[in-house]
Amino acid sequence: TSFSCNAILSGRAPADAPVTLKGWVRTRRDSKAGLSFVHISDGSSFHPVQVVAPAALANYASEVQKLTAGCAVEATGTIVPSPAKGQPFEMQATDLKVVGWVEDPDTYPIQPKPHTMEFLREVAHLRPRTNSIGAMTRVRHTLAMAIHRFFHENGFLWIHTPIITAADAEGAGELFRVSTLDFANLPRTPEGKVDFTKDFFGKEAFLTVSGQLNVESYCLALSKVYTFGPTFRAENSNTSRHLAEFWMIEPEIAFADLAQDASLAEALLKYILKAVLDERGDDMAFFEERIEKGVIAKVQAIVDKEFVRMDYTEAITILESAKQKFEYPVKWGTDLQSEHERYLAEKHVGGPVILMNYPKEIKAFYMRMNDDGKTVAAMDVLAPGIGEIVGGSQREERLDHLDARIAQMGLDPHGYGWYRDLRRYGSVPHAGFGLGFERTVAYVTGLSNVRDVIPFPRTPGNARY
Ligand code: 4AD
Ligand code: MG
Repeated sequence: TSFSCNAILSGRAPADAPVTLKGWVRTRRDSKAGLSFVHISDGSSFHPVQVVAPAALANYASEVQKLTAGCAVEATGTIVPSPAKGQPFEMQATDLKVVGWVEDPDTYPIQPKPHTMEFLREVAHLRPRTNSIGAMTRVRHTLAMAIHRFFHENGFLWIHTPIITAADAEGAGELFRVSTLDFANLPRTPEGKVDFTKDFFGKEAFLTVSGQLNVESYCLALSKVYTFGPTFRAENSNTSRHLAEFWMIEPEIAFADLAQDASLAEALLKYILKAVLDERGDDMAFFEERIEKGVIAKVQAIVDKEFVRMDYTEAITILESAKQKFEYPVKWGTDLQSEHERYLAEKHVGGPVILMNYPKEIKAFYMRMNDDGKTVAAMDVLAPGIGEIVGGSQREERLDHLDARIAQMGLDPHGYGWYRDLRRYGSVPHAGFGLGFERTVAYVTGLSNVRDVIPFPRTPGNARY
């Protein structure tokens, strides 16, 4: 019967019966003693399984000795303790079938040597066969599962909010349009404008930038809810922290304020990072050795240390008196750049910091106005090495305040009619946040670019694969 690399290496395959392993060749080495060592990976664990293929195999010269990186094989044999160091078990093969050859080994891009992350993005369809993308994928999976487990254990319901939306949830105008209109022959109104009543939905429609507004409506009925899905932003920023398509986790809690929101964010982050340390030791050891020295201690510190909470106003004072020269100067009222966020987390606090109560001008329309009339009940979690990874707030639950903000920001109130209803019928204080999934995976793995922690990255000018 078939066993995975993970089952074999963790001692779960029988020692007294033939075992089959199916996977892809990483490396082949022929020894003078007339044996070949073929390392086979099926992606279930960081380490491949060493398969020892004796010259006595019928296809030894005709096939085994022609195996190259990437060939798909099915190996059958006995699992024995391995004399080699770094692996507890290996397979003594009695059969090694080739399922799929690499037709031209010279053109196969994934060679058994280090490749740059930039090169691997150019072969995004084959990069899952590398150590780094394989390890990232397992960590990403573990984080996703831990997120669902955390919310499930705490009584939250997972709400599948829509991908296609009509409203701009962030009011930032970074929307991708969804349309079936013929671009070469657009229907026009008598005034010459594009006639969106002729479009599929009878009005303009977009890919969602956030599930928040929709999830708020479920929050104000089911109390503890969250979304976890893809979101889309047409922000033209070519940075290591921005994707045009990224995944976001957005919990929303009813009868809750900003302090409870911040505590939820801290508890979630601690829970999911601990899961990675507990479940992905081999993968994390690889990231520690090859990607970021100290990454394990960095993640462990987030699990262990209480997050510092600080007001925006205090952060500005700290930044203004910092010795470090910033590219962008700061004063009260300016939006923080990642250099400022990182200074606060790395240099000032030496750990994650939850920044609260930002000026209303730099935050979204739905955030609750504080009594000072100048700041809103916003909170961002800033992490060393990356900056903002969580953005959240207490929501404006008072209709008159919400309407004033929509008007001040020049947004069209008609687009938010149903959202206003939530303030007209049984409104309560409520709060939530968005955790950027790719920024979290980047943080945990030490991979410094979000393009390398999502299977197929979407960035300006790049939607290949
Ligand atoms: O701060 P943001 O824009 O907040 C919202 O979307 C709120 N609606 C969330 C809420 O309160 N329910 O985004 C939240 C997080 C950011 O902190 C960041 O981690 C991530 O989403 N993020 C991105 N990640 C990758 N690429 C982008 N272009 C991102 N934009 C935001
Ligand atoms: Mg934000």
